[in-house]
Amino acid sequence: MSRVLTLTGPGGVGKTRLAHKAARDIASEFADGVRVIELGTVSDPGLLIHVMAAGLGLRDLPDVSLDKVIGQLRGKSILMVLDNCEHLAKPCGMLAGDILAAAPLVRILATSRQVLGIEGEYVLPVAPLAVLPDAIKLLTDRVAAVDPEFEVGPDNRDALVAICRRLDGIPLAIELVATWFRVLAPEEILRRLDDQLRLPSGHSPTRPARQRTLAASASWSYELCSPAERALWARLSVFHEGFTLEAAAQVTLSTQDDLLDLIAGLVDKSILRRDDENVARYLMLETVRAYGLCKLAESGYLEQVRRAHQDLLGLADASAPDSEQDQLTSQSPPAAEVLTKRELEIADLLADGASNKEIAASLVISPRTATTHVRNILQKLGFTSRVQVVGWRARTSESW
Ligand SMILES: Nc1ncnc2c1ncn2[C@@H]1O[C@H](COP(=O)(O)OP(=O)(O)OP(=O)(O)O)[C@@H](O)[C@H]1O
Ligand SMILES: [Mg+2]
Repeated sequence: MSRVLTLTGPGGVGKTRLAHKAARDIASEFADGVRVIELGTVSDPGLLIHVMAAGLGLRDLPDVSLDKVIGQLRGKSILMVLDNCEHLAKPCGMLAGDILAAAPLVRILATSRQVLGIEGEYVLPVAPLAVLPDAIKLLTDRVAAVDPEFEVGPDNRDALVAICRRLDGIPLAIELVATWFRVLAPEEILRRLDDQLRLPSGHSPTRPARQRTLAASASWSYELCSPAERALWARLSVFHEGFTLEAAAQVTLSTQDDLLDLIAGLVDKSILRRDDENVARYLMLETVRAYGLCKLAESGYLEQVRRAHQDLLGLADASAPDSEQDQLTSQSPPAAEVLTKRELEIADLLADGASNKEIAASLVISPRTATTHVRNILQKLGFTSRVQVVGWRARTSESW
């Protein structure tokens, strides 16, 4: 094991639980034992050294100082578990660095939504539960605890799987949602979860405040972010299934260079996760995304950013009001013959909602050629937007 190992990951993924288990498993390797130091409730960095001293059992130490704490640790074989460090990541990292440098037999196991950023830190991201079987098992165990008559069967199985998927297999989210089964049916819970802007609030008074609701868990992470990172989190939450740096730049009207630092900051804080692909793709958990969408709506930019996202997908006018769309499709349709065979093929793809890029990929032509074709098609049909092609196709398809 590296001398400092940090378990990272989004709120409620199970970092603390795993750290406690790991500490129990390796406790025998430390002659002077394991000390668990809970930092989640410490808000003042100035108190950090006092909390550490108390956690190390150095209560009688007069005038606690870093030097005195280090003096007590020197020569000792101790595993220090620093739990829930994210809001104090920097001072914690500095303290940990000083302790490790002066006390060679000490090891540190930290849990933090944000990496500590110290030299020699080994970062281990904690993964959510696989939906099948682990997340389903946790959900059914927790529901059974509040409703002894609860059983999994053909009637509710699909909804339970969908709930676990929607919660991305995050144990805290699953435990919070399990408390709802007392009052709501699985389908009703699912519908509530599907409404991105209505976040659930569980009833869990025994948990730390940041873990009582999904919103509180996300809010704790939001507090870790700089104003620019918060604004970016909110804007990026319009992406449903991850995004590339290029797509992020288009939707946020920024340059890729400007975004890189902020995206790195959001990855460091477990708001974004990098997918393993050749071209970096970034993913956001659904509950994190839902919180971002709330913030975007509060900021008043929701429609603007959604529109930019639809533009990117080539659906610029898909959200046009119904009356406008009806009007667009009620005109007598131009005959399909005005288009060449190739253009008809492209119109078909357009009608299926394909973006210019997707059309290019599907027909193995360059994106620029696809864009030219699309422009020509709209011009020939006398249309001003792609959504008109959908209605046109529906009305002329019989003759295709
Ligand atoms: N693998 C698991 N199986 C069952 N329950 C789990 C598992 N992992 C975590 N839990 C439960 O989920 C809840 C959240 O876990 P934990 O507190 O470890 O998350 P965390 O990542 O430390 O969250 P935070 O970032 O808020 O500190 C706890 O009630 C924990 O018992
Ligand atoms: Mg924790």
